[in-house]
Amino acid sequence: MRDAITRLNAALEGRYPVERELGESGMATVYRPDDQRHECKVGRKLLLAVAVALNASCGPAPPAQANASTLSRQQMDFERARHQMVEEQIEARGVTDPRVLEAMQRVPRHEYVPAEYQARAYSDRPLPIGLDQTISQPYIVALMTELLQPEPDDRLLEIGTGSGYQAAVAAELVSEVYSIEIIPELARSAAERLERLGVSNVFVRAGDGYLGWPEQSPFDGILVTAGAEHIPEPLVEQLKPGARMIIPVGDLSSFQILKVVEKLPGGEVEIRDIIPVRFVPLRRNERD
Ligand SMILES: C[S@@+](CC[C@H](N)C(=O)[O-])C[C@H]1O[C@@H](n2cnc3c(N)ncnc32)[C@H](O)[C@@H]1O
Repeated sequence: MRDAITRLNAALEGRYPVERELGESGMATVYRPDDQRHECKVGRKLLLAVAVALNASCGPAPPAQANASTLSRQQMDFERARHQMVEEQIEARGVTDPRVLEAMQRVPRHEYVPAEYQARAYSDRPLPIGLDQTISQPYIVALMTELLQPEPDDRLLEIGTGSGYQAAVAAELVSEVYSIEIIPELARSAAERLERLGVSNVFVRAGDGYLGWPEQSPFDGILVTAGAEHIPEPLVEQLKPGARMIIPVGDLSSFQILKVVEKLPGGEVEIRDIIPVRFVPLRRNERD
């Protein structure tokens, strides 16, 4: 399906943009790891029309109809851009699973990026989400999701919630996604965003994902969306026999290799290299 060597060369030559991009800097505030507010079940709520303040900040309010048509035009533009993203960035590079392609078409990536990047939400690149972190390139999200081979009844674990986008894509395809984010501000904002968007089967927790989520294990699949120096043993332990983990592993100062780590029915582990990528580092939380 994929020509790994072509991709490797292409990625190193920069034809496939890598994950890392300088984010905005920011300060993390202190939090208590046992603070219940950081572990939230995202409730079901319908997304209300986005109250875009752009037109409404000053001057006379335009007629309601104009607002509604501006909003729906904007939504149509985003939908078209998403369609083009799926065709030109994802299908064209060999992702073929129709369920994954549909999920990428359905999830509104522009809702997961800061307002100043919305116009670039469907571009072929990662984007800053604040606190020096990024939302992954759409192709990488699709590829990692496809490699996981998700089934409708699966319960997945994601390490690195970030904006919540990858979790939302996976949540379209499985029954539950458990997602851990080490930066509490990001965990909180992703949980709020997912709730606002009506994504009810993602459960977000702030903490060190290196340790996994033992109380909810074993998982049918694990996605690690930050670059690791090695494969975390606790995550391998929390995989069901026959399940897979998708994880970028390698030198954090250059690039990593996206790997499929499969736990065979007998418990042995088989590892396959896919493509070179560059992710923000998987950090460790000293307090966990
Ligand atoms: C490339 S971003 C993930 C993008 C995210 N999946 C999305 O769709 O927006 C990597 C994320 O991993 C988080 N991270 C790094 N080390 C972590 C750890 N040990 N446990 C949990 N999250 C971690 C970072 O804070 C960052 O938000």
